[in-house]
Amino acid sequence: MDKVKVGIIGLGFMGTTHYDIYKHLENVEVVAVADADPDKRRGDISKVFANIGGGDNSTPLDFSNIRVFESGMELINAPEVDVVDICVPTPGHKELLIAALNKGKHVFCEKPLCRNLEELKEIEAVVKNARGYFNVGMCVRAWPEYYHARELYTSGAAGKVHSCVFRRLSPNLDGKAWDNWFMDDKRSGGALLDLHLHDADLVCYFFGMPKTVSTFGVRGVCSKNGFDHVVTRYDFANNTLVMAEGGWAAAGSVPFEMNFQIICEKATICLNAGGYKVHWNDGQVEAPVLNADELPTGWHRELNYFIDCVANGITPDKYQTPQQIFESFKVIMAEMESAENNGQPVEVK
Ligand SMILES: NC(=O)c1ccc[n+]([C@@H]2O[C@H](COP(=O)([O-])OP(=O)(O)OC[C@H]3O[C@@H](n4cnc5c(N)ncnc54)[C@H](O)[C@@H]3O)[C@@H](O)[C@H]2O)c1
Repeated sequence: MDKVKVGIIGLGFMGTTHYDIYKHLENVEVVAVADADPDKRRGDISKVFANIGGGDNSTPLDFSNIRVFESGMELINAPEVDVVDICVPTPGHKELLIAALNKGKHVFCEKPLCRNLEELKEIEAVVKNARGYFNVGMCVRAWPEYYHARELYTSGAAGKVHSCVFRRLSPNLDGKAWDNWFMDDKRSGGALLDLHLHDADLVCYFFGMPKTVSTFGVRGVCSKNGFDHVVTRYDFANNTLVMAEGGWAAAGSVPFEMNFQIICEKATICLNAGGYKVHWNDGQVEAPVLNADELPTGWHRELNYFIDCVANGITPDKYQTPQQIFESFKVIMAEMESAENNGQPVEVK
């Protein structure tokens, strides 16, 4: 079978992460890249910064056998590209993904899909009529521990959920990304949109759409005016307490962490510094083996799945549908409104 041909736009942390993952998948080849930065176009990725681990960025990438563009639009127009993978900062997503879908390409776009509800509306209309497949990097849905925990809960094995907390805390990213765009609330949406979206999306993945959200935040700690640390309570009008916390205000030397604790009727499911464990109420503690070597992260799993779907003509729906991506975006926008109003509950529409 022919390999799926991918073009990546944006060679920062996510673009280079995707580039590396594609190199290790059998049925895909990167045939083009585009970046506004001339250093990146030469393959020099030494300035790329990763908040979660990260590979060796001192070795330049070899682009001698692929096409290299300055503009994403040129890459979209390249006939050899089947899949356009968009990894530029958030304000660039809408224009590129709409152009690529209108050109009949398959599109994988990094999260957050866009910056506000007006942009979302335009995107929804185009995605609805697109011939190509469309997916967004809500990678934590595919992260092995989160995926396993959700299966445990939705299968009924762990029983009803009493309470759940998801947490995602990053060191301060000031001065780290291209043009320091994360610290500009207008472009990134602050930690609330850029980082905490993952957990808002997980809440929807695990429990469906909340009725209301109440978000408290502190702004302007490290960014210009964004919410740099937030805590949200998601109200489902039942007896379950669901919370999420996210922030990027910690000192630069603090390691990144993402964790959760889900207290269910029959077990407590935890991801923390002690690893991923299921603590059954009868005293047994399980540490499930999640086949982590083959596809160790949600990034590997989501891209591997999307490429398989393109290769085999299957509409991607394993981790999420476009509709679910739009819905969790509406939840995070409700959280933004609530945070602006000191935690006042906001209905999710
Ligand atoms: N899924 C995840 O876990 C995850 C993690 C980090 C970032 N992200 C998302 O990925 C996207 C990119 O973030 P990043 O951390 O890689 O940023 P980054 O700052 O590391 O890299 C951005 C890259 O885009 C290039 N660029 C900027 N504008 C461009 C344009 N108009 N055309 C072509 N190239 C352009 C820059 O030169 C740079 O190489 C963001 O939407 C971010 O929210 C997702």
